[in-house]
Amino acid sequence: METRGPEVIRDKEAMRKWSRSVRSQGKTIGFVPTMGYLHEGHLSLVRESRKLADVTVVSIYVNPGQFSPTEDLSTYPSDFAGDLAKLSAVPGGVDVVFHPKNLYDYGVGEEGVTGSRRIGGGGAVSCVENGGLGHETWVRVEGLEKGLCGKSRPVFFRGVVTIVTKLFNIVEPDVAFFGKKDYQQWRIIQRMVRDLDFGIKIVGSEIVREQDGLAMSSRNVRLSAEEREKALSISRSLAKAKAFAAEGQTNCTELKDMIIQEIVGASGRVDYVEIVEQESLEPVEKIKSPVVVCVAAWFGTVRLIDNIEISGFA
Ligand code: PAF
Repeated sequence: METRGPEVIRDKEAMRKWSRSVRSQGKTIGFVPTMGYLHEGHLSLVRESRKLADVTVVSIYVNPGQFSPTEDLSTYPSDFAGDLAKLSAVPGGVDVVFHPKNLYDYGVGEEGVTGSRRIGGGGAVSCVENGGLGHETWVRVEGLEKGLCGKSRPVFFRGVVTIVTKLFNIVEPDVAFFGKKDYQQWRIIQRMVRDLDFGIKIVGSEIVREQDGLAMSSRNVRLSAEEREKALSISRSLAKAKAFAAEGQTNCTELKDMIIQEIVGASGRVDYVEIVEQESLEPVEKIKSPVVVCVAAWFGTVRLIDNIEISGFA
């Protein structure tokens, strides 16, 4: 199968021009937004895009707007050259990697500095205040952003939805792909696209796991070997919850307690364990219709999230 390196575009006007030229040829555009440090989970989204669209754009942009001052922006891993190599190895390849320098900088000099991951500097947007160069518009999905990760990360979804809106307006895709590991993010983007009438189809792709069950995440590299081993308590307890539900154990308090015990027993610090309805993300007490069991927990300094959908139930 032919493989080729993607074209790298750093300027948003050039990106929009490329997309419009492709669309004028009658082609559909698939889009995979990422923050880089790509793993098999991202590559599965790229493969999905290749199946459903004529051309594929991947964005690599570590978005400062979705990190609070106490979070891991400065240590977020990056490896642009490695990312390009991985994307080039996907059968059929990726057409464009959109790698902007700073999407909150409305001043002069939009052209990026090749190879660098400069997101700060004079034009950096603050996560909690209006941006230094005048960014003051935020897109919020007010109900869905409140629970789950939104409780402990109050500016996170505001930042995600705003940057995804900006990326959609620049890339102008027909279809965009999000991993279901970030379940709340996927549902929020779906709702935003519906509510604001973006003509973009949002596809949620299944979680990709390591052989031992750990959900793939760019943050996994920051786990020590011991923490990584202990973190398996998350996927193990989620699988157990699903098996228990299939056997008729539908009391959510008991299922959540079981998960909490497993994680705490492995020295994890639980942020939340919730069982919620799949679209509204409203907590349920008893499993009677399709739900998703969502977990966020810390192992060492690394916060991991994972979930499992339960759709067939007793
Ligand atoms: O899921 C991610 O990697 C990010 O939240 C996203 C969607 C690329 C926005 O920065």
